[in-house]
Amino acid sequence: MSPALAESSAALREVVLTGDRPTGPLHLGHFAGSLRTRLALQHQHDQTILIADLQALTDHAGQPADVRRHVRELALDYLAVGIEPEATTVAVQSGIPELAELTVLYLNLVTVARLVRNPTVREEIKLRGFGSSIPAGFLAYPVSQAADITAVRATLVPVGDDQLPMIEQTNEIVRRLAHLAGRPLLPECRPILSKTPRLPGVDGRKASKSLGNAIALSADPDEVRAKVRAMFTDPGHLRTSDPGRVEGNVVFSYLDAFDPQREEVEELKRRYQAGGLGDVALKRRLEEVLQSLLAPIRDRRRAFSRDHDAIESLLRSGTARTRATAAGVLRDVRAVFALDPV
Ligand code: TRP
Repeated sequence: MSPALAESSAALREVVLTGDRPTGPLHLGHFAGSLRTRLALQHQHDQTILIADLQALTDHAGQPADVRRHVRELALDYLAVGIEPEATTVAVQSGIPELAELTVLYLNLVTVARLVRNPTVREEIKLRGFGSSIPAGFLAYPVSQAADITAVRATLVPVGDDQLPMIEQTNEIVRRLAHLAGRPLLPECRPILSKTPRLPGVDGRKASKSLGNAIALSADPDEVRAKVRAMFTDPGHLRTSDPGRVEGNVVFSYLDAFDPQREEVEELKRRYQAGGLGDVALKRRLEEVLQSLLAPIRDRRRAFSRDHDAIESLLRSGTARTRATAAGVLRDVRAVFALDPV
């Protein structure tokens, strides 16, 4: 890179924050939707990944040991896919008490009516069947997410489209705070939406842990093979010679997401639609693509799982660094509420 270019890209450096709830292993959908973006962003921007264990507790308060175990598993998944501790800060939410205090202060800037109107929260309440027993912490989690985002003064938040309402709420809080302070205090943030459409589960339904229809990054070769074989294709495509449908065909969704040979995939689609390409051949190709994608990830995962120091130092130093930044933001926000140190 020329010095001029290096300088202009340094000037464009942004603060990126993403988060994951530690509720289960990461799968290929996460890889296509967010992990690949993070791998690309880590050398371009100042990136933090937050393991949102407090947020996980808002609907997993009954399974605290599982949440705790998944914190470590997430860290392992990050290292396994190539997140570099020198390039990305990985922090644990519960290790940053400043986030809790920011949340309490922000709660004064948000109405219950606004929280109930948040479309993602509404959808999730329905999905979890909370009925009228909605945990207050769950209803308020968009506020704690606003604390996460503002605590590092993030300007870019890579997310799926379901998280757009969280970004809107964060920016509303940032504006209220600026109004209260009489001056801009914290930056507003922008989403980066993943270009890859949401990857379906192997059965064509939404990928979910309870349905067991996702392929985990840690899946062994036999499981990958079995899941590819069981993939939903086109129920009307009975004989190889029949014309087949590409839309809604899970094998093509995965090939689109992971096969590096784009043009060959387009050719396969043409042949499949015309008739003359069987599901078995198609699945064999996908299996090869996935096995070669997952083998190095699995190997690195195995190596890191024996390296306790690598995981501990990733989490400990990332949390400490983020805590220092959050403390500065909290000082500013406390001052807006006239909470000078007593
Ligand atoms: N709500 C996000 C999810 O369920 C996780 C998350 C927590 C997050 N804090 C965040 C995402 C901050 C982006 C920024 O996936």
